[in-house]
Amino acid sequence: MPGRLRTLLVIVGVLASAGVAAEEHPGRTAYLRYCSACHGTEARGDGTVAPTLNPKPADLTRLAANNGGTFPFTRVQEIIDGRNPIVAHGRPAMPVWGEVFGHEAAASTVAAPAQTRGKVQLIASYLASIQAH
Ligand code: HEC
Repeated sequence: MPGRLRTLLVIVGVLASAGVAAEEHPGRTAYLRYCSACHGTEARGDGTVAPTLNPKPADLTRLAANNGGTFPFTRVQEIIDGRNPIVAHGRPAMPVWGEVFGHEAAASTVAAPAQTRGKVQLIASYLASIQAH
C-alpha cells in the first residue's frame, strides 16, 4: 500500500507541475512584481494604487486591439524601458524600468544591458500572451 500511495503521489505531483508549466507564462512573475500594483493582477488597469493615479494606468490586455489587432511588440518594449525620450514623452506616470532593471542587473556592467533587455522582452511577451480578442 505505501508503495502504491507513493506512486500515486508522484503522478499527482507530475500532473500538477505540468499544469502549472502549461498555464503560467514565465513573464508573469516579473509582471506581478513590477507592474501589477498599478496595472492590476490581470493587467486591466485596476491595480491597488490605480485609484490614486491620474492619468489612470492603461488596460494592458487591449494593446493589440488598440493597434488594429497586432501586438505592438517593439513599441511596448520601448514604453516599458522608458529611456527613449520620444516614446516615453507624455508618460510621466510610468516608471523608467530600463533604469530600474539596469540597477538590479548583475554587477558586471557588460552583462547589465542584455539582462535589462531580457527582462523587458519577457514582460512584453507575457503581455502579448494575455491580449483580449
Ligand atoms: C506607478 C504605476 C505604474 C507601474 C508600476 C507601471 N505602470 Fe505602466 N502605466 C502607468 C500609467 C499611469 C500609464 C498610463 C498613463 C501614461 O501613459 O502615462 C501606463 C501606461 C503603460 C503602457 C502604455 C499603454 C498604451 O496604451 O500606450 C504600457 C505598455 C505599460 N504601462 C506597461 C507597464 C509594464 C509592463 C509595467 C511593469 C514593468 C508597468 N507598466 C508598470 C502606471 C504604471
